[in-house]
Amino acid sequence: MNIEFQNKIVLVTGSTRGIGRQIAEDFGKSGAQLILTGTQQRQIDQLNARAKKLRLKRRYYCVDFSSRESLRTFLKEIEQYKRIDVCVNNAGINRLNEVDRTKEEDWDDMIEVNLRAPFMLIRQIGKQMKKQRYGRIINISSIFGIVSREKRSIYTTTKSGLHGLTVAAALELAKYNVLVNTVSPGFTRTDLTNKNLSKEDQKEIARQVPMQRFGNTQDISKVVLFCASVLNTYMTGQNIIVDGGFICA
Ligand SMILES: NC(=O)c1ccc[n+]([C@@H]2O[C@H](COP(=O)([O-])OP(=O)(O)OC[C@H]3O[C@@H](n4cnc5c(N)ncnc54)[C@H](OP(=O)(O)O)[C@@H]3O)[C@@H](O)[C@H]2O)c1
Repeated sequence: MNIEFQNKIVLVTGSTRGIGRQIAEDFGKSGAQLILTGTQQRQIDQLNARAKKLRLKRRYYCVDFSSRESLRTFLKEIEQYKRIDVCVNNAGINRLNEVDRTKEEDWDDMIEVNLRAPFMLIRQIGKQMKKQRYGRIINISSIFGIVSREKRSIYTTTKSGLHGLTVAAALELAKYNVLVNTVSPGFTRTDLTNKNLSKEDQKEIARQVPMQRFGNTQDISKVVLFCASVLNTYMTGQNIIVDGGFICA
């Protein structure tokens, strides 16, 4: 069975790096037309120039979800697409601090990026998907939406809230053949991991993972593509944990 996305329009947020970039590349290889995002205007211009040169069916938008104005502009811009078949809410940030030392600004930014932006996107795109009577939405949460670890109070709040959104939206959209699921990665090698964990910590954690290694971006992407595909015909409202067995232990 092949997973293919010919004639499908797929939106992946936070697709300039890490897990989002992998997901975008894999959808692209499977024939999808892509709507992609990042926060750095210069990089976005370069990526769009490259896409034009290589005739890739994709367009990058510069959007910072911590700014409501930037999100509003983006939502307006994507109204031009007559359909969106798949929406992957991947963009996310994680600023670590003890609960009694958290900065209000970090709370606000993480709520805006990790939770409010996915909600606003689902609010708009869900309406369109209902009309189409077809859609697949995947929210990228984390094992730290289910369990936690020190210094992750805001992150856990947002990521567990995100799965709450999955369940609620899945329930409302199911009768329109719009399936909504969460994919929760465990420790995955990306810039975010390197920023938050020292090399020593990474070695120690890898030893604690039953599969004895960190995930790579392809481990996560494969699951997202399955959830987004026509092969997924009856799974909705679920939280799929892709962590090499970490939270079983
Ligand atoms: N890596 C892990 O171990 C892990 C584990 C569990 C869950 N996750 C989740 O997986 C998702 C991707 O993580 P990752 O490790 O691939 O992260 P990453 O390498 O840091 O990449 C994050 C992506 O989100 C974009 N982004 C950052 N701040 C943003 C903002 N304010 N507004 C809009 N977009 C923004 C970035 O754009 P720029 O390139 O412009 O900065 C980038 O494309 C996140 O939701 C994360 O919470 C990751």
